[in-house]
Order: sequence, then structure tokens, then C-alpha cells
Amino acid sequence: MNARDWDRLAAAYAAEVCDIFARDRRQVIARWLRARGLLRGRRTVLDLGCGIGSFFKRHGRHFGRKTGTDHSRRMLRIAARRCHAVPDCHWRQADAQRLPPELRGCADLVVCSNVITFVSAAACRRAMRETVGGAKPGAWLLFILPALESHDAIVSLETGRPAPPRPGTTAVVRRDDRRQRFYSAEGARQLAVRAGLRAVTVRKVWYPWSDEGIGRAPRGHEPPWDWCVTARRPAGL
Ligand SMILES: C[S@@+](CC[C@H](N)C(=O)[O-])C[C@H]1O[C@@H](n2cnc3c(N)ncnc32)[C@H](O)[C@@H]1O
Repeated sequence: MNARDWDRLAAAYAAEVCDIFARDRRQVIARWLRARGLLRGRRTVLDLGCGIGSFFKRHGRHFGRKTGTDHSRRMLRIAARRCHAVPDCHWRQADAQRLPPELRGCADLVVCSNVITFVSAAACRRAMRETVGGAKPGAWLLFILPALESHDAIVSLETGRPAPPRPGTTAVVRRDDRRQRFYSAEGARQLAVRAGLRAVTVRKVWYPWSDEGIGRAPRGHEPPWDWCVTARRPAGL
């Protein structure tokens, strides 16, 4: 999807797309931020592909200067409106695959949530490189990536057939009329390791069944989840 497609989706976005920061009922993300000491000391944050500003709306008040970038002007406009009460938010129209030079090495924490899902593997690598480039040496990064295992489990539940084995660690999946790259746990880990990141951890962030259009939780099944990948930019990278 290009910037114009995202512009078109912007008005309906809040209703149509799962907001992982609001839907993380088990507080996996908040607990990680707290455990790393990131909620203290007014740290600087860069949120690449910030969408309608959900990370800043949910966690922004704990941080210092906050910059959200997105290629969609409309998404940014909605983000600014939703975060009007959150101090020190700055918005910038930019391509996640080409970080503006002034944002290089600017952040104590870089967030990139459900953005590195491009059909092209080369585009994912480029966006990954630029995301890492936004972090200060030694800073933390937090990625949210769609989970292939969760997707397969839901398809299997809906069809009553076991999911066929996957040959690779990532796959392009069609969902809601758009094709997106999904990651297995190993694929998510590899994405971070190959970008040169250290202290890589992959966790599940569960969200409610209703976000998958399933009204009642099926007994004996784990709720759907995204991968939360956390890692650190080494000083020498
Ligand atoms: C699924 S939304 C996620 C929004 C937000 N990060 C969140 O998790 O709530 C993907 C966002 O990435 C943006 N995006 C996709 N490709 C991009 C690119 N190449 N450059 C900048 N933003 C991009 C879209 O405009 C959209 O706002």
C-alpha cells in the first residue's frame, strides 16, 4: 500500500485496524518499557510509521520529545488531533525507507509497529536499516510484527483444517484486501539480528478475539497475538 492508500484508509483506521497499544490487555509492552527504565527520565522517542499516534496517546506522557513520522499526511493529521493533550509531540511526513537526516541517531527509543510488513523483502530490510538508524548508539528499539503462527491458528480454527507447514520464516498473507508480510517467531528474531541489533527478545502481545471478528473466545485456544521484538542498537553500529 502506498501513501495515498493509507490516506484513504485514515478516517476509518481507528475502527478497522487493531490498535495493539490499546489492545495489549496483559500490558506486555508497558511492562517491558517499565522494566527497561524507559518510562523515567523524559527519554526521546521516534515512532516510525506512527499511524494515528496510538503509541504516543497510550504511553507518550512518560517521555520527553516525541517525533512521529508517517508517509500519510492524513494519518499524521489524525495523530496530531488525538495527541493534542500529550506534550512535546512533533509530526513529520516521511518515508520509513528514507529517514530524514535530522532524525538520525536522535532517539533513546525507536518504535516501529506493524510497518515492516512490506511484500518486498528488500523494502523490509531497507525500512529496518532506517529504523535502526533513528536510534542513538545503545538505545532501545521496539517492533511490533504480525505473527504468522497466530494467523495460521485462526485460519485453522475457521476452516477446521490444520494449517499446512510453512517452508520459510516469513510469508506474504492476504488480509482485509491487502497483502502483508507476516513473521514466525524465528523470522521476527532474524529480522532484528540481521540488522545488527543486540539483546533481541521476541514476545507475544495478545489482543482480543473480537479484533479477528470472533465474538466468543473459543475454548482451549490461545488468543491471537502480534510479535513484540525488542532489541538494542550496539554502540559501534
Ligand atoms: C498498520 S499501520 C500501524 C500504525 C501504528 N504504527 C500503530 O501500530 O498503531 C501502518 C502505518 O505505517 C504507515 N506506513 C506504511 N508504509 C510506510 C512507509 N513506507 N513510510 C512511512 N509510513 C508508512 C502507514 O501510513 C500506516 O500509518
